Amino acid sequence: MKVLVVGTGGRDHAIAWKFTRSPRVKEVFVAHGNAGIARTATCVNLRTIEEMADFAQRERIDLTFVGPEKPLSAGIVDLFQSRGLAIIGPDSRASRLESSKCDTKVMLRELGIPVPEFENFSDPDRARDYVRSVGYPVVVKADGLAAGKGSLVCDTVEDAEQSVRALMEERIFGDAGDRVDIEKRLYGRELSFFCFTDGTSVVPMVAAQDYKRARENDEGKNTGGMGSYSPHPWLTDSLVKTIMGRVAEPLIAGVREKYGIVYRGILYLGLMLVGEGADITPYVLEINIRLGDPEAQVILPRLRTDLVDVCEAILAGKLGATRPEWDPAYRLCLIATSGPTKGKKGWYKGYPDRYKIGLPIEGVDDIDPDCLVFHSGTEINASGKLVTTGGRVLCIVSSGSTLQQAREKALTEMEKVRFEGIYYRKDIGLE
Ligand SMILES: Nc1ncnc2c1ncn2[C@@H]1O[C@H](COP(=O)(O)OP(=O)(O)O)[C@@H](O)[C@H]1O
Ligand SMILES: [Mg+2]
Repeated sequence: MKVLVVGTGGRDHAIAWKFTRSPRVKEVFVAHGNAGIARTATCVNLRTIEEMADFAQRERIDLTFVGPEKPLSAGIVDLFQSRGLAIIGPDSRASRLESSKCDTKVMLRELGIPVPEFENFSDPDRARDYVRSVGYPVVVKADGLAAGKGSLVCDTVEDAEQSVRALMEERIFGDAGDRVDIEKRLYGRELSFFCFTDGTSVVPMVAAQDYKRARENDEGKNTGGMGSYSPHPWLTDSLVKTIMGRVAEPLIAGVREKYGIVYRGILYLGLMLVGEGADITPYVLEINIRLGDPEAQVILPRLRTDLVDVCEAILAGKLGATRPEWDPAYRLCLIATSGPTKGKKGWYKGYPDRYKIGLPIEGVDDIDPDCLVFHSGTEINASGKLVTTGGRVLCIVSSGSTLQQAREKALTEMEKVRFEGIYYRKDIGLE
C-alpha cells in the first residue's frame, strides 16, 4: 500500500520511518518533508490541505497520517473524509481540544476530569481583578494555538498582571490571546501521556521522559524539546491504570456522549501528578491531538506491532481488539541544535534564541547504522550540500539494554556530527 505522512519535523521523520518498516507498505510519501526525510521517503512539495487531498486522490494513497496540529485544526481530516480518503487524526471539532484551551477546560470540568481551578476571560480588566483576588500563583494561558509558547507560568500577582497585558493587550500571540484561561499553578510531577484511540477504545502507549529546557541541569529557556528517552523512569502500571481510569477513558467517552465528538487518532495528555501513592491525582494541564516531538522519536522505534495494523484498527473502530506490543529495550534521543555562532554584528545566542541557518553539516553518514537519525531542520542547498535550516537540526536515537548504555552510544555517535555552533545537552538520560 501507499502511505502519505503530513509533516516536516523530527517526529514526522520518525512516523515516516516507522511506515517504511511495514511489510505491507510499498511507498511512503511525505508532505513536505526535509533533507533527512528525503532519504527515508519520497518528499512532495504540497503546502495546503487541498493540495494534499488532490495528491492523495491522484496517487491513490491508501492511508494518510498527520504529524502536526496545524493541518488537523485546519480540517484536513474532514476534507479527506469528505473525499472518501482514509486518514488518521482527529477531525476539526475534536481538534478544538488542542486549539481552544478555554473551551477544553470547561468540558473537562463538566465531565468530572481533574483540572486545576480555573476561570476563562475575554476582558483584561476582569482577568486582572481575578489574579489579584485568588491569592495563589497562577498560569495565564492564551486560548488558541501559540506554538507551545502561549502558557505563562507566574510567580507573583505582578507577573500575572503582566502576562494578562502581554496576551490580551499587546497581543503577542495575536488572536490566540483574545481569551485566556487562568488556572491555579500546581506543583507535582509533570508527565506527557500518549494513547491511540478509535473514539471508543483507548490504548495507552509506552511513555517517554522529555527534556524541555535548553541547557543542562534543566536550566535555560523552554524549547520544543532537547531530548527524550523511553521507558519512562517512574510511570508504573498502577499509575497508567489511574490515568486511564480517571482521565483518558472518561474523556474519550465523555466528549462522544456529551458533546457528540468522536475523537480518533492520537491523544496526548499533558498532566501534572499531584500527591503520592494511592492519593495521586492526575490533573490535565492541556490536551494535544498528535504525537510529541521528541517523544515520538523514542516511542515509535519501540513499537513492535505494524503501525499500519494499528491505523486500520482505529479506522475500523476495532482498536479494542488490538494490543500493541513494545520492545522493552531503552531508546534515547539526543537533539543537535543550532547553538551560539558569531555573526557580522556579534554573537547569535543560539536556539531557542537567534541562530544562523544554512550551515554545512558533516559526518551524518559516519553514524553507526545501529542508531536512527531523524532530521528536523535540514535541507540540501543549491550546491547540493546538507545544511541547517532550523533551531532543532537533527537527532540521533540510540538503543541499549540500560539507559546509560543508550546514553553513551548517542553521545559517542553525536561527536561525529559537525556544523558551526552545534549544541546538544550531554545530560539527557543521566541519572
Ligand atoms: N496549572 C499549571 N500548574 C503548573 N504548571 C503549569 C500549569 N499549566 C501549565 N504549566 C506549565 O506550563 C507548561 C506549558 O503549559 P501547557 O498547558 O502544556 O501549554 P503549551 O504546551 O501550549 O504551552 C507545562 O508544560 C507546565 O510546565
Ligand atoms: Mg504543553
